[in-house]
Amino acid sequence: MRWPAEAIWEQVAPGLPGFTVEILPQIDSTNTELMRRARAGQTDPVLLVAERQTAGRGRLGRSWHSDTSGGHATLAFSLGLALDPVDWSGLSLAVGLSLANSLHPQLQLKWPNDIWLAGRKLAGILIETTQVGTQRYAVVGVGINIEAVPADGLRTPPAALVELLPAATPASVLGQVAAPLVRDVLAFAQQTFAPLRAAFAQRDLLLGREVECSDGSTGTACGVDVDGALLVHTARGPLTIRSAEVSVRPATPTDSL
Ligand code: BTN
Repeated sequence: MRWPAEAIWEQVAPGLPGFTVEILPQIDSTNTELMRRARAGQTDPVLLVAERQTAGRGRLGRSWHSDTSGGHATLAFSLGLALDPVDWSGLSLAVGLSLANSLHPQLQLKWPNDIWLAGRKLAGILIETTQVGTQRYAVVGVGINIEAVPADGLRTPPAALVELLPAATPASVLGQVAAPLVRDVLAFAQQTFAPLRAAFAQRDLLLGREVECSDGSTGTACGVDVDGALLVHTARGPLTIRSAEVSVRPATPTDSL
């Protein structure tokens, strides 16, 4: 596959000294690799792309399918950079918004960090951070299903970007999203989530829907606050969900609404 590494580098490097783009045929997980490197003191900004991950990781300890063999093209990459945001909360929402804005107006965002298409999950984001000396290093991992991937027993089979953009390939999608993502993550560090709240609301999949949270609470999702926390109206009153450890799902399948 021909990856647009040079074009991305040319767009990003002037604003991010030391930035490199690295494409690997195979790795366990691009997130795991960048966290390993950071712990070994390597904190230069990098975009690490893997054609195949053997141990891709999702949120909440789940695994992430990203084996491109057998015709299931996926895009898997991680952006690693030292980051010192005014406030970390809302970063995953800012990342999802950046990707959706780069890809298509029809894509929706499911709090806190999934991109959905037509009632099914299309892409996931896994953000991890570690302290290196006086700096905080962030690894922003992104997995996008370009072609249909195996459902692997999921309640709702994943969506594929080719349903919306038939000519999409992992390389073309990387070329579309990478430079704007770096720009938007750097902007987030300066501005926080607040200026992005209205744009998030436009794509908010859960807005006005009945939701079930993994902590057992249920209610109606009412958008996100200025910090990116999910607001849920429950029978017992308003609830603000901040924890990334809580998963939320629509109480009814979104394609039946
Ligand atoms: C989720 O939806 O739970 C998050 C999925 C994140 C997957 C990406 S693929 C690139 C990067 N490397 C990983 O191991 N995970 C992220």
